[in-house]
Formats: sequence, C-alpha cells, structure tokens
Amino acid sequence: AAGKAWEGRFREKTNRLVEAFTGSVGVDGRMYAEDIQGSIAHCKTLRKAGVLSAADTTAIVRGLEAVQTELDRGRFRFLPEDEDIHMAIERRLTEMIGPVGGKLHTGRSRNDQVALDIRLYLRSHLGHLQEALQEFQRVLVAKAKANRTVVMPGYTHLQRAQPILFAHHLLAYVDMIARDRSRLEDAYARLNVMPLGSGALAGTNYPIDRRYTAGLLGFPAVTTNSLDAVSDRDFMIEVAAALSIVMMHLSRLSEELIVWSSQEFRFVDLPDGFCTGSSMMPQKKNPDVPELIRGKTGRVYGQLMNLLTTLKALPLSYNRDLQEDKPALFDALETVMSSVRVMAELMRRLKMNREVLEEAVRKGHLLATELADYLVARGVPFREAHAVTGRIVRSAVDSKRELSDFSLEEFRTFSDRIEKGVFTRLSVPAAIDRKAQVGGTARVRVEQRIRELERSL
Ligand code: ARG
Repeated sequence: AAGKAWEGRFREKTNRLVEAFTGSVGVDGRMYAEDIQGSIAHCKTLRKAGVLSAADTTAIVRGLEAVQTELDRGRFRFLPEDEDIHMAIERRLTEMIGPVGGKLHTGRSRNDQVALDIRLYLRSHLGHLQEALQEFQRVLVAKAKANRTVVMPGYTHLQRAQPILFAHHLLAYVDMIARDRSRLEDAYARLNVMPLGSGALAGTNYPIDRRYTAGLLGFPAVTTNSLDAVSDRDFMIEVAAALSIVMMHLSRLSEELIVWSSQEFRFVDLPDGFCTGSSMMPQKKNPDVPELIRGKTGRVYGQLMNLLTTLKALPLSYNRDLQEDKPALFDALETVMSSVRVMAELMRRLKMNREVLEEAVRKGHLLATELADYLVARGVPFREAHAVTGRIVRSAVDSKRELSDFSLEEFRTFSDRIEKGVFTRLSVPAAIDRKAQVGGTARVRVEQRIRELERSL
C-alpha cells in the first residue's frame, strides 16, 4: 500500500494502535463532498495565481470528480493508513491521476482545509434543519387552525389557572421555533467566512487570491487572521448552543405530550404509530417518542459541553484535540434533525380530546380572575376584589362546587357589588375573548395570528 503523505521525516512506521486511535475517516468521511468542493476551488485558485498549469488543473479537477463518483456510489475503498477523509481523497486522487495529484495540496494545510470543510458542511446542514423547523412550524399552525375552537385549561405551576385556546398553546411553540431559527441564522452568518489561505497556521507563501476562492465557494468574506482561522471553533459552539435550545423547546413539548396523554389527563391521544407497547403489560401504549426526545435533549446538551470543554484553555493555533469537534457536532446535528422531523409528524397526527378539555376547563375555578375583574369594573380596588373572590373560592372548595354553581344571593353575601351581570362574565368564551390585546388568547387574536403565520411561513 502507499505510504503516508508525511512519512518522510519518520524512521518507523505508524504503530497500528496509533493508526486506529488517530484515524477519523469514520466520522469526517461524511464531509467528503465538501472536501472535494473545497479542493476544486483551491485548485482553480492555484491556477489563477499561475502556480498550476492549465493541464495540471484540468487533470486534478477531473480526478477529484472521479474520486467523488466513487464516493457517491459507495465504491471508494478506504485503507487503514487513510488518516482522515482529506488524506484518503488525496491518496486516491494520486492513485488515479499519478504524481500530478501531489500538486493539489500546494499552499494548503489540512488545518485550513478542515476549517473550510466544516463550514461548508454546516452551511448545507443548517439549511436542511431550517427547512425541517419551518415545516414543524407549519404543522403546528395547521393543527392550531383545525382546532381553533378547542379550549383548554392554561396552567401555571401545573395548577389550572385560566382558560385558553388550545391553538394559543400550540402557537407558543411556533414563536419559540421562530427564535430558534433566528439563532441558527445568526450562527450561520458568523461561520460563513472562508478560511483557505491560512495554511497550517501562519498563512500561505503563494500569491493566491483568497477572495476568488471565497467567490467560487459562495462565501461573502475571508477570515482575517490565520491563527484564528485554523483554531477557531466558536462557530460550532454557537451552533451547538442553538441546537441545545431547539432540543430544550422540543423537550418541553414532549413533557406536555407525555403528561397530556396520561390516564390522569387524557387531553390528547398520541397516534398509535408513534407509540410502543410493553413486552409484559398488554394494555400499555407508551409515549416513547416524546420520552426519547426528552432523553436526547440531555445528549445534545452534553455535546455542547463536550465542545466547550475541548476548546477550553487550548493554546493557539491548531491542536489535534480539535479533531474531537466533529463527533460532537455531527451527533448534535443528527439528533436534532431526527427529533424535529419525528416531532412534526407526531404533531401532524395528534388528536385532541375536546370533551375532556372542556370538562377540565369547567373544574378548578378557572374563572376566579374574571370574577375579581368584574368587581374591579364595579369600582372595587383590585386587591379587595382579589380578597373577596378568594373567600368565594374557598367557600366553593369547601362545599365541593364551582363558581358557576353559586346563586346571585349567595354571591351577594360576599359582596353587595355583585349583580346579575356577573353570570355573563363567568363564561369561558367571554373569559377567553377578553384577552384581546396583542399576544392574548382571544379568538380574534389567535385567528389573526394564524393568518399572519400562514402568510409568513
Ligand atoms: N483530521 C484533523 C481534524 O479533523 C485534521 C488534520 C490535521 N492534522 C494535523 N496533524 N495537523 O482536525
């Protein structure tokens, strides 16, 4: 087999253990298309600078395309001495086109090469993730629209608080995902900078036009410090942080689905195809998908911590520690991507138990705040209205009744400001529709928001 590109300086062959230990093809192999794209751009840049002849350039570009075809078709044979995807591709290129393949790496290091590859890889994968997140938002908006008349108890402290529209609850997640997407866009803008030309650490000896390379690869700018360019991974940390926040949001929705689908709540029915059974208990239908998303959230946070810890106190510039960045990044990306996709499909098929939700809204004195505000409208200071209503609720709790079970005479034993009009105030639709400011759960507001989102998504 061919030796290593860097073997000249060595007396001994690389130990087998070390070969296996340092190799990263199993992980960075997924960047092969980006690696070849970057090499073609580098090659054209060398040509423009007069470093490569036209004939050599053509031979190398054609060769790289042939290597890509092998990789695309799964016909590429990796060797144990292929240290990483960059070396594997160059080794194969040279096998195919001969010694001219050895000219490709002129003025380049794997250090600026890998910094480029990760950025190219993230550009395309963040694009796919943006699409998946947008589709998830569309599913939530469609679900909200189809269920726009369904009410539910809104909670604080997981105690029933005030009636809301189920649609309003779903749209809360649409806003969260919108911020997630904007965080990913921010990270994208900072990583969208071209590092080739930084060499191993100090820059390059060749008169290459870095802006030309950037243009070929669609980067709006080039990095401005070679040391930073080969050792910076903060863009990956930003991405991992944004991914962690996506998972945090998915895990909150997961937790709600797990709670809502329990016998204790029965607010929703999860689609059968998204649940699993028990090997022993025949009656079981378990919410494994949301449980796994909740579990995988910890895994993505772990990868963020992994990256932060790998970078901590690492001296400039490149250090091999940085090779550990990719398993963390790829795992986080793949986990989030699959979680978003499966959650979107689950939500598309989710069934609401309208009767159970309506019944839940009727129990638990969810209209107590309406009663207090009724008293405020009758001139009672809010603090006093709150106290009076509190006493009414206590009496309702003691007699195991709801506010709607009280007669006018009974109400009036608590306050003579209460009159017949109180009963129109103590209705769920009225309570909901009064929350008519921007951001509130009133039907007109929620329907308007659905229309806005339908237009913008
Ligand atoms: N495979 C390495 C990485 O992923 C790039 C190679 C740099 N190796 C080196 N000896 N400078 O970071």
